[in-house]
Amino acid sequence: MVYSIGHMSNSRKQAPLSRDEIIKMKTVCQMAAQVLSHTGRFVKPGITTDELDLIADDFTKSIGGTSACIGYGGYPKATCISVNEVVCHGVPSSYKVKEGDILNIDVTVKKDGFFGDNSKTIMVGKVSSNAADLVDTAYKAMMIGIETITPNGFTGDIGFETNKLVTRRGYTTIKEIGGHGIGRVFHGDPFIPAFGKRGKGEKIIPWTCFTVEPMVNEGTDEFIEFDIPNSGIKYYKTADKKLSAQFEHTVLITDTGYEILTLNN
Ligand code: MF3
Ligand code: CO
Ligand code: CO
Repeated sequence: MVYSIGHMSNSRKQAPLSRDEIIKMKTVCQMAAQVLSHTGRFVKPGITTDELDLIADDFTKSIGGTSACIGYGGYPKATCISVNEVVCHGVPSSYKVKEGDILNIDVTVKKDGFFGDNSKTIMVGKVSSNAADLVDTAYKAMMIGIETITPNGFTGDIGFETNKLVTRRGYTTIKEIGGHGIGRVFHGDPFIPAFGKRGKGEKIIPWTCFTVEPMVNEGTDEFIEFDIPNSGIKYYKTADKKLSAQFEHTVLITDTGYEILTLNN
């Protein structure tokens, strides 16, 4: 989701979750992880992103969940599938996946009033070595961000480590779009940046959940916005049409650390 930096409003604040709510979050996040892993197995040259979206939607229903994306701000599909230079919120279509593509599939499931959100970038067949390195960097960027989480620390700590890793590897991070509080709502505070300063940003509160989902670009961090018909949601492409990759997990903050809720077990 897109936030203006520094955005703050009490209505978006996430109150700590009860034990019962944590169980519901764990359940829905495991469902989201299953849908992502199931759908990912069907990625091969020739399949359309619409077909992948249908596979995800059917599987979500078969395990008793619903897609949080359909109808969200008028968004038309069950998943976001962002191919190559698409940064995020790519809309599934009749596009046929081809060898060499990198494809981010982003799945959000809703169950019992709670949301679980995760994504991964899949390499189709043999991809260029720079594409593979970018995808590896995006994964490591997400993981270092997660590993940096400290209860009562700051969101800027996460962004700082993420951006440092990405910059060292010669890539850039998207600044205006990032992770978000999640739980009883799909998108809430805090904003989780892929850049920042240690000790800055918002405080990380135990027993809340948020996503870590850095977007990593091969070239410029600038992007162009595109409208999705009949929807308030936009999708984005890199301004230089170079590649962009992303991974996303939903994380629970505990009093001593964190737990990744969308790990595929
Ligand atoms: N799952 C996306 C995220 O990571 C949000 C998609 S919203 C949609 O926050 F409407 F585009 F589906
Ligand atoms: Co998200
Ligand atoms: Co997502």
